[in-house]
Amino acid sequence: MNRRTLTTLSVPLYEQLHVAVAAIRAIDPRPPTLGIVLGSGLGGFADRLARRTAIDYGDIPHFPVSAVLGHAGKLVLGELHGKTIAAMQGRAHAYEGHDLGKVTFPIRTLVLLGCETLILTNAAGGVNPKYIPGELVVLSDHINMLADSPLRGAHDERLGPRFPDMTHAYASELRELAKAAGKAIGLTLREGVYAAMPGPQYETPAEVRMLRVMGADLTGMSTVPETIVANHMGARVLGISCVTNMAAGITGAKLSHDEVTETARRARSTFERLLDEIIKGLK
Ligand code: HPA
Repeated sequence: MNRRTLTTLSVPLYEQLHVAVAAIRAIDPRPPTLGIVLGSGLGGFADRLARRTAIDYGDIPHFPVSAVLGHAGKLVLGELHGKTIAAMQGRAHAYEGHDLGKVTFPIRTLVLLGCETLILTNAAGGVNPKYIPGELVVLSDHINMLADSPLRGAHDERLGPRFPDMTHAYASELRELAKAAGKAIGLTLREGVYAAMPGPQYETPAEVRMLRVMGADLTGMSTVPETIVANHMGARVLGISCVTNMAAGITGAKLSHDEVTETARRARSTFERLLDEIIKGLK
C-alpha cells in the first residue's frame, strides 16, 4: 500500500476536505461563491474568466483525476460579472472505478471554499423524443439509477444531515433564472428529468424505454451524485444538460463518444452565452 492510499484510508473525509481547501487557498486565496462543473467538451468556458488561476486536479490533495477524453482536469479560479468563480474542467465518474465519495469530493471542496451555488453541466442522451441534439435543457429533477449514494457510509454531522431532503434538488429560482437568461439570448429552454446510469456502456434501447416509462427525459453518467452532496451541504444547484445525441433506440443510430463530444463542441458557443447570461443575473 503506498502512502497516498494509506492517508486516504485513515483520514476522515471532513479532514481530507480541509486539506484540499487549504491547498487551494494557498495557491489562490480568493473565496469563490459560485462553482461550475463543465462537462464533456464544455471546458472552454473557463477561458472567459478574468484573473485566472488554473490548478491541476493532480495538485489538489485527495482530488480524483479523470482520464476521460474531452476533460482537461483543471480547477480554474477567476472572475466574471463581479463574482469569484471556481470552474472545474471535467469531472471524475463512477465508471472510472471511483466510489461516489471520491467522485463528489471536489463538489464538497467547492462548497467548503464558499460556493453557495453550483452550476452542474453535462452531456446527456435525449430520452424525450421531442428533444433535438444540440439543445440545452434545464434539469427539473433527477432519478438515481446508480444503485448507490455518495452519502452511504459513516455519517458526519459536520457535512450535513443523515437524511437530507431532495424535494427541491434543483432550486426553482435558479431554473427560472436559467430560462429567463435563455430568453434574453433567444433560446426557449425546456426542462427535463435526468436519469443517472452507471455506464460506461451506453444504454440499451430497452433500458431507454424503461427510463422513459419512469419519467426521465435525459440520461447520462454524472451530475446526480454531485447534486446529492451539494444539497446535503445546503448549496443550491442548477443543472444544465446538452443533449448530445438521442438515447439508444430512439433513432436506431449507433452511439459514440465522438458524436457526444462533437455535438457538445458545436453547442459550445450557445452554451457559453447562456452561462454568461445566467451568471450576470445570479444573486
Ligand atoms: N447515455 C448516457 N450518457 C450519455 C449519453 C447517453 O446517451 N450521451 C451523453 N452522455
